[in-house]
Order: sequence, then structure tokens, then C-alpha cells
Amino acid sequence: MKQKLIFATGNAGKMKEIRAILGDLDVEILSSREAGVQADIVEDGKTFLENARIKARAIHEITGALVLADDSGLEVDYLDKAPGVYSARFMGEDTSYEIKNQAIIDKLEGVEGSDRSARFRCVIDAVFPDGTETAEEGTIEGWIAKEPSGNGGFGYDPIFYLPERDLTTADLSAEEKNAISHRGIALRKIRPAIEAWLEAQK
Ligand code: IMP
Repeated sequence: MKQKLIFATGNAGKMKEIRAILGDLDVEILSSREAGVQADIVEDGKTFLENARIKARAIHEITGALVLADDSGLEVDYLDKAPGVYSARFMGEDTSYEIKNQAIIDKLEGVEGSDRSARFRCVIDAVFPDGTETAEEGTIEGWIAKEPSGNGGFGYDPIFYLPERDLTTADLSAEEKNAISHRGIALRKIRPAIEAWLEAQK
């Protein structure tokens, strides 16, 4: 029987990215929802790593399986790295990204060029069935755009501008974004640990 890998998220967009990068491994990849796990997890960590650990450990405790969890967000240097770990909660969870993105553009009124620097950060934590744990981080650097652009991606992608390519991450195809994104980088970094664990189960 195939080993199971549970990713502690209900976010379909994240599951697509995970399957694109880890889908060829000899493991059944399930979201916590697909695994039938219901958990009310309070993400009260102060860092991406703390929050990723909180999520991964909570689902591991319930299932005993190999569990991965990520925590990610946007850091805007001019705003002292806000919204950071509060990216999803910035201006309220239910506020549209059209409004959130415009608010960030407005806060950077009059700020030019590299002073608009920002990054997406993603930390992925893996808890193995024996309780051992490892984490990896990926980042992608960019600037805050002066106006939103693109229909791809989600969240802050329409305002995350890549100056060297003169487009936003919302202008990229899913494949192009996976190849350079913070989450893609973190997933590819954590992949060898999963491969080693799968090898050891044979
Ligand atoms: P998480 O699901 O707790 O990791 O929250 C991450 C939040 O950060 C998302 O709700 C988005 O607001 C933002 N975010 C993280 N990754 C991305 C991305 O790739 N594009 C756009 N926004 C992102």
C-alpha cells in the first residue's frame, strides 16, 4: 500500500502547486480535508516557522501520518515587513484582495523604484510518522507594483512585480509561477527529506 502524505491545508490552489512539484513521488498526497481530518487550529505563532509547525504538529497528532504544512505571506520593506504573518488576516479575512492590494499601493504613494521592495516568504514544515521534523524556506524578491496586473495566481499576486521581467506574478502561468515561487522553492528544498523517508520505508 502507498504511504500517505497529508498537507495541512484546505486551500485548493496550494494543493495544485504541491501536486505539481511532489506528484511524481510514490506517495498518496491528500489535503487534510481529503484525509477527513477536522481540526480547529489557532495560528498564533509570531513567525512563519512557528505557524507552519503549529499546523503540521496538530495534524500529525491526529493522524500519525507524514504531515506537511506551510505558512506564507508578503513582506513589504517600506511597511516594516507588514503584512507578514498577518497576510491572510490583513484588513480582515473577508476583505477582498482587490481592496487589500489597493490599500498597499496607496500606502506606498510617492515611494519609487527599489524602495518598493517586497518578498513572498514560505516556510514548509514536515513531521514524519516517528515525530522527527524538518523545515525549509523559500523566498521570491520583487517590488510592489504601482497598479494591479494579471489574472493568474491569488492573493497579492497582482501587485507583486518582478522588475527584471516587467510583470507581476499574476501575469505568469501556473507553471511559470511554480518554477520561481517561494512555495515552489520551499517544496523542492524539502523534497529530498521526503524521498529519503520513502526510501527507508522499502
Ligand atoms: P497562509 O495560508 O496562512 O500561508 O496565508 C498566506 C497568505 O499570504 C495568503 O492568504 C495570501 O494573502 C498571502 N500569500 C502567500 N503566498 C502567496 C502567493 O503566492 N501569492 C499571493 N499571495 C500569497
